[in-house]
Amino acid sequence: MTDHRSPFSDHGFLFAPSDISGRLLDWYGRQGRDLPWRRTRDPYRVWLSEVMLQQTTVAAVVPYYETFLERFPNVADLAAAPVEEVIESWAGLGYYSRARNLHAAAQRVVSLFGGSFPDDLEGLMSLPGVGRSTAGAILSIAFDRKAPILDGNVRRVLCRLYALKEDPRASASEKRLWAWAEELTSADRPHDYAQAIMDLGATICIPRRPDCPACPLEGLCRARRMGVEAELPLRRKGRVVPQRTEVALLLEREGRFLVRRRPLEGMLGGLWEFPGGGVPEGSEPLAAGKALLRDMGLAGELRPAGRVRHVYSHFRLDLHLLRGEVEETFRVGEGAQDRWLSPGELTVLPLHGAHKKALDHLASAV
Ligand code: ADE
Repeated sequence: MTDHRSPFSDHGFLFAPSDISGRLLDWYGRQGRDLPWRRTRDPYRVWLSEVMLQQTTVAAVVPYYETFLERFPNVADLAAAPVEEVIESWAGLGYYSRARNLHAAAQRVVSLFGGSFPDDLEGLMSLPGVGRSTAGAILSIAFDRKAPILDGNVRRVLCRLYALKEDPRASASEKRLWAWAEELTSADRPHDYAQAIMDLGATICIPRRPDCPACPLEGLCRARRMGVEAELPLRRKGRVVPQRTEVALLLEREGRFLVRRRPLEGMLGGLWEFPGGGVPEGSEPLAAGKALLRDMGLAGELRPAGRVRHVYSHFRLDLHLLRGEVEETFRVGEGAQDRWLSPGELTVLPLHGAHKKALDHLASAV
């Protein structure tokens, strides 16, 4: 297909890789962000920041990073902590398998690598939660070794720079993207290059409206020359995110509410929530709530007390809140995994996202 807006053919090559890295490094020297994990080369801190930054923005990560390091200042402290404590420190960051992997990886570093992080791709990738891109970032940033990175931000930059017009998730595209990432990575300054390309993707070459006039690579970018920068990378078409309807029971006894800890394995493992469950197809939330209450061996009236919506990576949750007073509770809420807590205690409990939002409804829906 000929693109009439551009004097360049789709297949013409417009730049030398060293032009790209040179411009990028100059730009980073002038405009790079001062972020907490950029003041260290300690592999533990670099690894922690990279895992936190997987699927999460810099702004959300900064406060967690500092607090986490106060609680677990080094890899040995992290490895020695109970996994529940690590998950609690992660509460609010989302994608909790990262916290479990972090803990398992710390134990591996201590038991198999004598407490020092490996400084090669294979060793790093043997750690749970460290894929090829994260391993590349740790190698570049902590050890100043040349290693390509291909996280979400870098992927977008490369799709535009090289005008990749195929689905970037296809395996052939994946291969090309890694090859481009490899050829652009600076052999002289891997540490700075890694930070620079990630910063460019996070601040200028952003998803919807890239700020091309501010980009140091504008004159070299094939997508920009073709006028297709906003259309790339190609988006997945018609992806339908399933919706789930659930109820959460805000069960009250003498001013305290029943909460439970989810099993460690599985989604949101180790976090707390109000009791509840799915609303079966064709059933109403109130009827589903009453059935759950009966199954728990509790008696009481339930009334609607608000609604919470929450988006997870692979579904949307429509959570109906049902509130009720319960009297006779037998032994419900007296184990290590379920408790009756006051609203004040609930605000400091690591509840997971949707159920944390439910807290806003406790005070209002009396
Ligand atoms: N995203 C992933 N790693 C990053 C880093 N080191 N700095 C900024 N954003 C990032």
